[in-house]
Amino acid sequence: GNSGNGMMDNDESGHMTEHSVDLVKSTAPEKELALPPILKPDKQTKNDVYYTVTAKSGTTDFKDGGSTETLGYNGTYLGPVIKIRRGQTVHIKEVNDLNENTTFHWHGAIIDGKADGGLHDPIKPGKTKNISFKVQQPAATLWFHPHPSGQTAKQVYKGLAGLIYVSDNTSKNLKIPKNYGVDDFPLVVQDRTFDSKNQFNYKKDYNSDGTLGENILVNGTLNPYINVTTKFVRLRLLNGSNARNYTFKLSNNQKMYQIAGDGSFLSKPDPIKKLTLAPAQRAEVLVDTSSIPDGESLELVAGGIPVVTLKMQTRTDNIKRMPKSLLKMATAKAGTHDVDKQTLTLSGMSKMVEINGKQFNPDRIDIHTKVRQQQVWTVKNKKQMMNMSHPFHLHGVQFRILSINGHKPPLNETGYMDTVNLKPGDSVKLTFKFEEKGLYMYHCHNLEHEQNGMMGQIMVE
Ligand code: C2O
Ligand code: CU
Repeated sequence: GNSGNGMMDNDESGHMTEHSVDLVKSTAPEKELALPPILKPDKQTKNDVYYTVTAKSGTTDFKDGGSTETLGYNGTYLGPVIKIRRGQTVHIKEVNDLNENTTFHWHGAIIDGKADGGLHDPIKPGKTKNISFKVQQPAATLWFHPHPSGQTAKQVYKGLAGLIYVSDNTSKNLKIPKNYGVDDFPLVVQDRTFDSKNQFNYKKDYNSDGTLGENILVNGTLNPYINVTTKFVRLRLLNGSNARNYTFKLSNNQKMYQIAGDGSFLSKPDPIKKLTLAPAQRAEVLVDTSSIPDGESLELVAGGIPVVTLKMQTRTDNIKRMPKSLLKMATAKAGTHDVDKQTLTLSGMSKMVEINGKQFNPDRIDIHTKVRQQQVWTVKNKKQMMNMSHPFHLHGVQFRILSINGHKPPLNETGYMDTVNLKPGDSVKLTFKFEEKGLYMYHCHNLEHEQNGMMGQIMVE
């Protein structure tokens, strides 16, 4: 950690000094990056697609010294990529093969409250739930994970998380890398500590202000590399960690071009030298490798250690140039009449985390509103003596940021998002509408904070 006095928020970890766990490079040998399989539909018709997703336990070999007990979807660690298309109706059979309750939460999906997988709808061990929803949102990289009462953080830590790729006409027509595993790579970035028996010991690693691990895993691979065979590479980053923030950079300090955030493409590529992602946030970046000779490598780094090594092979020109524009989007506007306004203040730490002075109560509905009602929410992270950043996430919608501390958001936060990171003292204004009805959660996506009660619920009727 830093050598500060513990009262400042540490941007790299989102944690105070007392609770920081330094990232260290694993001693495991380098290995080609694992790619999650693309889930095969059980059935597909013109407008409908059917999938089965099973949460189960198993063991995974991450490194020498013994297998690790893990959880996964349709496998033993993490899950497959589920591909869905705008306009399609998706049917998912959710199967719980665990020995405890779980739920399937479709993080970032515009979805009916009943299908959203919040903690009100636990699926008991051995049971199944069928959901359907119509895809009504732009192309994006979303994800899914469990959300059962009291067990979310542990189940995610043990491996339950997967990606959803939403496609639409924009993603189809854009001239960007889109060949899965060739020039378009998912990177699910997580931190984990292996104990002396190679296990993930959630109890031991647990911290009430966010559980941190010391090694980086990407798609479950330690010290991963990618053989790069194209001039441009697209990296779809998900911060799938319980609590750690990452600031990603390229090792030669060259720019990356961010093309998408949580819930959509940006209006145009954003050239950036570094990119911070809080838990649950996603970003897609294009890396132009043309300045790197064959045989050399470029690393994506975070916290001073490599996340993934890009090894340059002979490369083809997969795309000619960076696109000038991506998604046509009007500037986000609050609207002037008939707006539902809310102010949410995040405060406290550890077991005392609160929203508007209250801890989560499943029997209390914090906010009532109407479907398709324009919303303007001001979310604040109260400045206190000891303070942390809080990634604020809202279920069932994609919002736009109107302002951050009274200023326009930077280009890479002007698209659709579902998680916004608030530093101590930050005040962020969001606008959105619920397109579907139901009961939804909103919470800090530091999963230990979520579990400690930094969460509320909204009923949309
Ligand atoms: Cu990523 Cu309430 O969830
Ligand atoms: Cu928090």
